[in-house]
Amino acid sequence: MAEIKRVGVLGCGLMGSGIAQVCAAAGYDTVVREISDEAVRRGLGSISKQLGKSVEKGKLPAEARDAIVGRLSGTASLDDLRDCDIIIEAVVEDLALKNEMWRTLDELCGPATIFASNTSSLTIADMAAATKRPERMVGLHFFNPVPVMKLVEVVKTIATDPTVFQTAFDFAGSLGKEPIVCKDNSGFVVNLLLVPYMMDAIRALEQGVATVEDIDKGMRLGTGYPMGPFILSDFVGLDTLDKIGGIMFEEYKEKRYASPPLLKRMISLGYFGRKTGKGFYDYSGAEPKVMNLGI
Ligand code: 3HC
Repeated sequence: MAEIKRVGVLGCGLMGSGIAQVCAAAGYDTVVREISDEAVRRGLGSISKQLGKSVEKGKLPAEARDAIVGRLSGTASLDDLRDCDIIIEAVVEDLALKNEMWRTLDELCGPATIFASNTSSLTIADMAAATKRPERMVGLHFFNPVPVMKLVEVVKTIATDPTVFQTAFDFAGSLGKEPIVCKDNSGFVVNLLLVPYMMDAIRALEQGVATVEDIDKGMRLGTGYPMGPFILSDFVGLDTLDKIGGIMFEEYKEKRYASPPLLKRMISLGYFGRKTGKGFYDYSGAEPKVMNLGI
């Protein structure tokens, strides 16, 4: 593959921090960009904490942790990503915001730099169109928790150069992940199937088919899924689920992607799942407890 040495990551939230961690762990010089110095400190702090847990468990030698941390740096300036061979974007699902960054980076970076987005539901072509390098734009869609989940969806648009795609595909493999090839349709493979499943679980709850606990138990024990749909929705973030469902609904105009009323009401009240402590479950205690949603 064309040589990738330095990786830029845009965003150091849940996904960006995981992506930066796996890139540094795979030996890449990695620079992660956040919007403020405080956000950079927070993001790098969460990676250190995660790596610290692995050291405590005896899964990672302390020297390896130090080497990973040594390959990671943070910045609040897009300028510091100018020398990257590949830049992976993992900021919120807002096309205008993403494209503003891509336009700036398009001017800053050399012509060989590959642009990759971790978007869950927007199309890569809609970002490629904002740059003068549409042939060097791909999707690299990781899964939460990034250090654990093996899959990366590698997405090619109708304009992606096949050698750029191959480089991105091999790069995903070099991170210890299993890449799959995906077309540039909203939701790619996994969210195309997973989002309607999570929305249907909420509709089943609204219709009184069964309780949150029993629907989760049913899918865990009946199909061997590691998490039921409600605990998974809380884990992904209900605001994220609503946002990606909305984008997919716009693309396909099919009800199965649309947020059910209950999800909308929960979002209005700030029930975003694990991150706010309240969702289909209440996370204030040692173990999650089903929330009383008045159903
Ligand atoms: N970050 C890093 N590592 C984590 C982690 C996290 N947030 N959560 C768990 N882990 C690690 C643990 O440290 C542990 O590692 P070890 O084996 O080295 O000790 C390992 O994962 C297993 O964790 P646990 O024993 O604590 O718990 P489980 O066995 O229940 O596994 C899970 C946790 C991996 C999260 C599992 O429940 C799972 O696979 N859930 C489904 C996750 C899923 O479907 N993700 C995809 C969401 S969709 C998505 O991301 C797409 C987006 O576009 C919406």
